[in-house]
Amino acid sequence: MRTEIDELRALIRYHEHKYYIENLSEISDADFDVLIKELEELEAATEAPIPPDSPTQRVGGGAALGTRLQHRTPMLSLNNSYDENELREFDERVRRLLEDAPVEYVTELKIDGLGVSLIYENGVFTQGVTRGDGEYGEEITDNLRTIRSIPLRLVETKTAVPPMLEIRGEVFLPKGCLDEINVQREEEGELPFANPRNAAAGSLRLLDASITAARPLDIFVYTLNYAEGTELTTHTESLENMKAWGLKCNPYTAHHQSIEDVQNYYKRWVEERHKLPYETDGIVVKVDNFSQQHELGTTSKYPRWAVAYKFNAQQAITTVKKIDVQVGRTGALTPVAILKPVTLAGATITNATLHNEQEIQTKDIRIGDRIVLERAGDVIPKVVEVLTTDRTGDEVIFEFPKRCPACDTPVQRIEKEVAVRCVNVACVAQLKRRIAHYASRNSLQIEGLGPATIDQLVDKELVRDVADLYTLEVDPLSKLDRMGILSARNLVHQIERSKAAPAEKLLFGLGIFHVGETVAELLIERFLSLDALGRASLKEIESVNGIGPQIAESVFNFFGHNQPLLDKLRAAGLHCFTVEAVSKRTEASIATDSFFRGKTFVVTGSLEGMTRGEASNEIKSRGGRVTSSVTNKTDYLIAGEGAGSKYTKAVELDIPILESADFFQKLQQHPQ
Ligand code: IVH
Repeated sequence: MRTEIDELRALIRYHEHKYYIENLSEISDADFDVLIKELEELEAATEAPIPPDSPTQRVGGGAALGTRLQHRTPMLSLNNSYDENELREFDERVRRLLEDAPVEYVTELKIDGLGVSLIYENGVFTQGVTRGDGEYGEEITDNLRTIRSIPLRLVETKTAVPPMLEIRGEVFLPKGCLDEINVQREEEGELPFANPRNAAAGSLRLLDASITAARPLDIFVYTLNYAEGTELTTHTESLENMKAWGLKCNPYTAHHQSIEDVQNYYKRWVEERHKLPYETDGIVVKVDNFSQQHELGTTSKYPRWAVAYKFNAQQAITTVKKIDVQVGRTGALTPVAILKPVTLAGATITNATLHNEQEIQTKDIRIGDRIVLERAGDVIPKVVEVLTTDRTGDEVIFEFPKRCPACDTPVQRIEKEVAVRCVNVACVAQLKRRIAHYASRNSLQIEGLGPATIDQLVDKELVRDVADLYTLEVDPLSKLDRMGILSARNLVHQIERSKAAPAEKLLFGLGIFHVGETVAELLIERFLSLDALGRASLKEIESVNGIGPQIAESVFNFFGHNQPLLDKLRAAGLHCFTVEAVSKRTEASIATDSFFRGKTFVVTGSLEGMTRGEASNEIKSRGGRVTSSVTNKTDYLIAGEGAGSKYTKAVELDIPILESADFFQKLQQHPQ
């Protein structure tokens, strides 16, 4: 018999599949979170061990890494072709080796990520390994488990799931997510990832799986490398099976009878790949029939039955006018090349990050150099090469500053970090960046507090920390450059408004290492207030599902060192210090079961043992609205003794009427 727990796990798996694999959602995120919470509570209440494929077991915290494992068969690479002729040569070789037998090709997008191998035993995900050198990879099971589009358990369909499966695919970071991660990394003194592939690889090798979980990694599987006891004849068939078992395959796979057809597929994607939400660096062409694949065989590096047909990277040539050094929120110094503006992949590029001193030295980038700039999708443009043959001798070697360009403190090189840092806690550049983060859209959202204003506020010493923002007054503000009385008033209003921000926004806005928006939400969901989080022990923080040891330590230390700042924010009147957050679970339980939630009521007449005011409060505390006149927007009229014209109006408009007794019954059935 299926227990309540089994039912709930199946329901959550169903929604995970809909959302992460089919991109359809049937329930809201909040309702999904409630299901997970319910399951966590049921699991905590039973004696039975929690199976590793339970949807609550995605993030365990630490990650066991590093075991070297041999692949069942080598994970080969693909031979590349770059133009129509090379593709034609591939086709001719295939046909020659198959002695002109009819050949059908499957084409797929070549996803720019990290190749991985997934093992499923009896339908349960048990092991994940990186490609490594092709022969041996590194075990990354715990980190792969955090990727929601990797099912922890496969679904039985008309084709039974074989007892042992090895599946290969590509883990990738969707477009647009890299910038955000890199900004955070640079702030935290780590090297930014040069491209989404490195980001995916780096994220999968983290020792704290909860940090991996916070990165929006995704997967497409493309090879069924081993399926015990099955007899599949084509690649197409294996893709269909994988899809049916609940794995995520790319939807743009196609089937072709001729190499001309393949060429058309390629042409289509040269145009359209920019619209995809992930990076592709070409297409992969595969012979569909397995016995033909077998006949063609492999070289030591590549299969002879497949080839990658690459897209051209988008490049432009321009000149480095100068190199600036920016100081981040945590003091990391980042060099930025200021370029002669150039158009590349539809955007005008005026600068490119050079990441760190080492990067400048390795590529030998000098001021005045002509460089090749490359932009893949929406990734930040990068300098791929210096055109040294174009050098005139006037180029200037860049000297990395020995002192912070903002506060003149000697910079420090932190052991194990590539970044050079300004370690002056009072450095104005760092303060400016911290304020900008505090005011940003996803933090406290203080509109009108842009970089120019922040510069002046800090330079004129009107603001020495984020809490000082709450002491600003219209008069002195209106005297700042480019700030009139109206914008000063608006800014004060916006700052005032930010006091009502929920606790998770403030927690994110404080800029604590490793605390992104998701982590901030998880922490507030569990502790409900900053004060409670501040009182929590390291162990308690680490016990939150989704929070690993590194994050926990960073949060714990922050609260240990920053009480004065928090006291100042509390004194400034930020609401979240006095009003506890409502957990999503409580909120949604009102949402799902309450009769009152979202409905409009009118109360009239005298109710037994309750004033109309009290009745209104009871309704409002259950999520309902109370208005004074009956209109066609009214959902219910609550009518006590002596109801008069409102009663008649409700009857006229056909609005349902609850007598006192019905109302009291509803209140009892749907408690707050
Ligand atoms: S097939 C032997 N299909 O590209 C077959 N690979 O440059 C090789 N890749 O190591 C794998 N998308 O990590 C295949 N649709 C796709 C792919 C794909 C990306 C990666 C894979 C491989 C690399 C070769």
